[in-house]
Amino acid sequence: MISGKAKVAGVVGWPVSHSLSPRLHNYWLSHYSIDGLYIPLPVKPEDCIEVIKILPKMGIRGVNLTLPHKELVMPLLTDMDDDARAIGAVNTLMISYDGTIQGMNTDAYGFIKNIRPHIGTRKNKAVVLGAGGAARAVCHALIKEGFTEIMLANRTQEKADALAAHFAGRIQVRAWDLRNNMLEGADLLVNATSLGMEGHEPLPISLDALPKTAVVTDIVYIPLVTPLIKAAKDRGNPVVDGLGMLIHQAVPAFKAWFGVNPEITPELRNILLKAT
Ligand code: ATR
Repeated sequence: MISGKAKVAGVVGWPVSHSLSPRLHNYWLSHYSIDGLYIPLPVKPEDCIEVIKILPKMGIRGVNLTLPHKELVMPLLTDMDDDARAIGAVNTLMISYDGTIQGMNTDAYGFIKNIRPHIGTRKNKAVVLGAGGAARAVCHALIKEGFTEIMLANRTQEKADALAAHFAGRIQVRAWDLRNNMLEGADLLVNATSLGMEGHEPLPISLDALPKTAVVTDIVYIPLVTPLIKAAKDRGNPVVDGLGMLIHQAVPAFKAWFGVNPEITPELRNILLKAT
């Protein structure tokens, strides 16, 4: 039961109707019998600044942000964590009545927590496809995790070059047309493009050069088994779907807002899967 003292958080985005975060956080709130609520807040990008500024006055504990809001709010922050600073975007805000707004980026954390049990000590070469906001968080996570060689390709080469410049010398860019050859000797392949998502084309790639031991992961989780994940699984590669990243990135936010370190259970995954 929600009381007058309920702690309120939410997700600010446009569109926000597809977001699984309300189900995710409200599942944990109910599971831990917390007097709290997590609501979708559909806010157009042009209204984002105005809305975020007003949230401290409304007693909102915090919000998650979707793109492009992740970058738009940066000037409003009182402080931000090292990951947010390195990535140049925030996905989580902690808000106080005194008007302070702290920004965190938990996307890199969510990505690495999701794949860490599968990669073990194989952290030499990683191949990343894509150069949007998701690819930025992935690259930051891989650098922090200690991958020695990170190779990246993107359809629009300028965006790949800009991303590599952002991470000063840690990312090697290759032409999009060379993506099949890049897979030679890789320990990890990450799809950080939107290809393979429901309603999008599959990622055009041949896995022939990829070692059978390489872990293949996709940030896309609708569908859970993307054409890439299926192709990798069929040839015997270990695979990690993208739903885990979404769940893991929510853990530090939930802890910050509601004071409990929530557990990731198969039941939670099933509830989210049913919603996709
Ligand atoms: P996000 O920030 O969530 O990663 P984004 O900035 O729109 O989203 O990035 C989507 C990624 O998918 C980009 O790397 C994009 O490539 P471009 O930079 O060339 O646009 C990639 N992508 C989308 N559609 C694609 C397609 N048909 N072929 C190749 N790459 C595609």
